[in-house]
Amino acid sequence: MSFKEKINKTKLPEHVAIIMDGNGRWAKGIGKLRIFGHQSGVGAVREAMEGCVDLGIRYLTLYAFSSENWSRPKLEVQALMELLVNTLAKETQTFIKNGVRLNTIGNISDLPKRCQEKLLEIIDLTKNNNTCILTLALSYGSRMEIVESTKSICAQVLAGTLNLEDINEKTISKNLETNDLPDPDLMIRTSGEQRISNFLLYQLAYTELCFLPIMWPEFVREHLFEAVYNYQSRERRFGKTS
Ligand code: IPE
Ligand code: IPE
Ligand code: MG
Repeated sequence: MSFKEKINKTKLPEHVAIIMDGNGRWAKGIGKLRIFGHQSGVGAVREAMEGCVDLGIRYLTLYAFSSENWSRPKLEVQALMELLVNTLAKETQTFIKNGVRLNTIGNISDLPKRCQEKLLEIIDLTKNNNTCILTLALSYGSRMEIVESTKSICAQVLAGTLNLEDINEKTISKNLETNDLPDPDLMIRTSGEQRISNFLLYQLAYTELCFLPIMWPEFVREHLFEAVYNYQSRERRFGKTS
């Protein structure tokens, strides 16, 4: 029996977040350049997206480029930006066919102009789709997101539109870039690395974590199904007793 058949459709995670890691090591392992690994990771993005649509998972968030990734060699960064534009252009029909709405978090204004334009074009083109909301984290860093949220809350207090006593956990959530997304239920990281790398720090408070020992270009939808199946066997206690 495949993992997909074993999944309980009434207990699906609503939101799956993925740290797509290991492109460079995968390429090096077969004697190729890191950029070949990034190119080969595109197929895995399609697998993750179509896997979510297939299962009926409403929200998928992909960590595609961190604010720290700008410190990589210039050529690699350029190649990644190029790949982003080309992939978005090539996959537009896949988004439409699957009813996927594109969304972004991160400092999009840091990206090259043509990346920004392509993103805006596809966000607009898919804005009425409702099957799956695909959020790409681009030039994203969670600590900076929390800093910005803090500034925004302070500004509201100074302007007199928010009382200090009314600030609670929901206030923080609502001032993060993910304000229109539920917190992730399941977070998957490939490459065997077991860390968060500045991804959704506030939002992952009670997320179930799954670390896969495969590199991102090797990821296929069956890995998603297996992760969801394992997720369903866990007891989410949220601090309470069984
Ligand atoms: C993930 O793969 C893609 C990005 C961070 C853009 P890496 O490029 O981090 O690959 P490894 O982890 O070095 O193998
Ligand atoms: C995290 O991967 C960022 C993305 C997958 C986009 P990194 O490869 O940048 O993280 P570290 O450096 O191993 O923590
Ligand atoms: Mg990495």
